[in-house]
Amino acid sequence: EKVILAYSGGLDTSCILKWLLEKKYEVICVMADVGQQEDFEAARQKALKIGAQKVIVADVKQSFVEHYIWPAVQMGLIYEERYLLGTSLARPCISVALVKAAQEHGAKYLAHGATGKGNDQVRFELCAYALQPNLKIIAPWRDVEFCSRFQGRLDLIEYARESGIEVSAKPTAPWSTDANIMHISYESGVLEDPSHVAPSSLYELTVDPLTQAPQRTVRLTIYFERGLPTHVEDLASSRVYSTPLEILKFLNDLGGTYGIGRIDIVENRYVGLKSRGVYETPGGTILYTAHQDLEVFSLDREVLRTKQLLRDRMADYVYNGFWFSPEALYVRRCIELAQERVSGQVTVELAPGYCRAVARKAAAASGGLYNEQLVSMDVHGGYVPQDAGGFIAINAVRIREHVRAFGPYEVK
Ligand code: ARG
Ligand code: SIN
Repeated sequence: EKVILAYSGGLDTSCILKWLLEKKYEVICVMADVGQQEDFEAARQKALKIGAQKVIVADVKQSFVEHYIWPAVQMGLIYEERYLLGTSLARPCISVALVKAAQEHGAKYLAHGATGKGNDQVRFELCAYALQPNLKIIAPWRDVEFCSRFQGRLDLIEYARESGIEVSAKPTAPWSTDANIMHISYESGVLEDPSHVAPSSLYELTVDPLTQAPQRTVRLTIYFERGLPTHVEDLASSRVYSTPLEILKFLNDLGGTYGIGRIDIVENRYVGLKSRGVYETPGGTILYTAHQDLEVFSLDREVLRTKQLLRDRMADYVYNGFWFSPEALYVRRCIELAQERVSGQVTVELAPGYCRAVARKAAAASGGLYNEQLVSMDVHGGYVPQDAGGFIAINAVRIREHVRAFGPYEVK
């Protein structure tokens, strides 16, 4: 039987590959290039040497940025108020590549190296079932035989040595990393004690803002159409970046040199565990900041409030693995409808460790909902201040009634 294995080139999936071969499966390895720094050629040779029938390296970077990261920026997705979902968004994109390979090669099985305690197993499998409902999943880290044979890393290393699988000589970092063009996440190992500060040597995409970032600011103008970034102008060099991939790479590089987008959090996994994670999302953080500013500027207040509720739902759907689901489709279309008015530009200022919006402008000739005349302290602009007295009086009815019924408000 043919199996598609989501292969990373690392120790775990190399041992899984060997184990599947022992079980007499024909294994086709798929590596999705979502922008992680990886020697794909070396990994290909490694898998072939172990006995993979074929290794497919699928370059899905452009699709990842355009069809997953850009919509996430447009929707303003953020999980538990801090996590920009870099890993969660990559999973459906990778799943598409895996299922495509399964369909092309007539494979009935899909194997992955995600653990039984995490989110990723849920995401890969729900996405796979959505795309190919009759696919069968092999999850060795949930397999009783596999788990009793391999308790942990040491067993895997021994198995690798016995099986002639190369084991990297350099000691691996004492944490687990997941990298793509949007972010790097770090979990497990020495990070498992949330009361311990993460070592400063961990960060790969961003510098330490205090000691290594330039001690001056820089400004960028980010242009949006319907909530999607269209181009970015570096105001110092006047250079313009205009494809999604170019924009994200530029913002990652520049944001990284300013130490922007680091978070250290404990989050709620879908399976019910709390987990400590450290993330670096430089470009994503800049885009999130700019989009948020333009959105409050452009949207009707009540549309904004409703959109924020939907955004929180969508962030949960994406985190929990329901990118391909009826509820995600529905909510996404609602949010897209709100974004029809989110067009314009935002100037952001990068400073060591953070970025903030400093100016914004609507794309519409009308200036959009922001009405300088109406809000000005200097002219009436059609607003009747006398009406505000009645507005307040009517709002006060309820506030006064409470006193009549229950006595004065407690004052401290
Ligand atoms: N906790 C993050 C998430 O669930 C990151 C998971 C990292 N995955 C990994 N295989 N190391 O989205
Ligand atoms: C894993 O458990 O495979 C990684 C962490 C996660 O999926 O949440």
